[in-house]
Amino acid sequence: MKQIQQVSQLNNYIKNLISENKSIGLIPTMGYLHEGHESLINKSKKENDITIVSIYINPIQFDNEDDYEKYPRNITADIKRLRKLNCDLLFHPDDSEITNLPKQNIKIKFDNLTQILEANMRPGHFEGVITIVTKLFKVIKPNKAYFGEKDLQQLLIIQKLCAEKYTNIQIIKCPTIREFNGLAKSSRNKHLDIANFNLASNIFKMLKFTKKNIKILGVEKTKNYVTKYLNNLGGINLEYFEIISSESFSFTNTIDANSTYYGLIAVKINNIRLIDNIKL
Ligand code: PAJ
Repeated sequence: MKQIQQVSQLNNYIKNLISENKSIGLIPTMGYLHEGHESLINKSKKENDITIVSIYINPIQFDNEDDYEKYPRNITADIKRLRKLNCDLLFHPDDSEITNLPKQNIKIKFDNLTQILEANMRPGHFEGVITIVTKLFKVIKPNKAYFGEKDLQQLLIIQKLCAEKYTNIQIIKCPTIREFNGLAKSSRNKHLDIANFNLASNIFKMLKFTKKNIKILGVEKTKNYVTKYLNNLGGINLEYFEIISSESFSFTNTIDANSTYYGLIAVKINNIRLIDNIKL
C-alpha cells in the first residue's frame, strides 16, 4: 500500500491514474478504523480499479475543542488494517496540507439538512464536513465515493452536493455495521466502558421498537415511549429522537404508507456522543 501525506505528491499519483484510465473509489475517514469503515473499503475494492482511503481528523467539523482532542487516534493500527484489506493508497495529510488547499465555493441550498437535528446540535459541523469532502473530491477526482448510512444526515448532504455540483462522482451509500449487541460501530465506542457499552445497546433496541410499532402506535406515542424508556434507564442523556420524512428531511407527526421515514437518535452516555438511525 502506498502512503502519501503531501498534496503535490497526490496530484502526480492521481494524474497517472487518470492517464491510465483507472477508476478511483474514495473512502474519506477520520481514522481509528473499524469494521464499519472496512465495509466501505471492501465495497470500493469490488467496484473500482484503485481504492483510496483518506485519514484526516478534520478540526473544523468539531464544534468543541475537547471532542477534537479526545477523538481516538491510532495511525499504526489503521495502516496495518488497510494493508490487510489491500487498500491501494492511504492519504493522510497534516493540517497545513489541507488548509492550503483552496476552499470550494458551494452555493447549494441544503434546507433542513443543514438546519435541524445534527446541524442544530453541532453548529458549523456540516460546513466543516462539506469543506473537507469537497477539497478531497477536487484533488482525488474519484469516480465513486463511499459513505455510511450511520451518519445519515451527512450522507444525504453529500448526495445532494454531488447531484448538484459534482455530477461525475457517484455516492455509494453503505449500510450500518453493528456490534454484536446492536450498537452501531463507531470510533467513539472506544471511550465506552463495559457497563456503558451494554447500556448503549438500548439505542438500537429502541430504533427496532420504533420500526416494529410506529404504524400501530403513531408518531407521538412512539416518541413518548422511547423517550421515557431511555430516560428511565439512567445514564443515557437523550439529545433528540425524531421521525423524519426522508423526501423533505422534515419532522412528521403522521406516517403514511407511500412515503419513506427514518427514526434518528442522538444520545450522550458519560459525555460520549452517539448517533444512530433506522429506516422505518
Ligand atoms: P468517520 O466517522 O471516520 O466515518 C467515515 C465513514 O465511515 C463515513 O461515511 C461514516 O458514515 C462511515 N461509517 C462510520 N461508522 C460506520 C458503521 N458503523 N457502519 C457503516 N459505515 C460507517 O464521517 C466521517 O468520518 C467524517 O465526517 C468525514 C466524512 C471523513 C469528513 O471528515
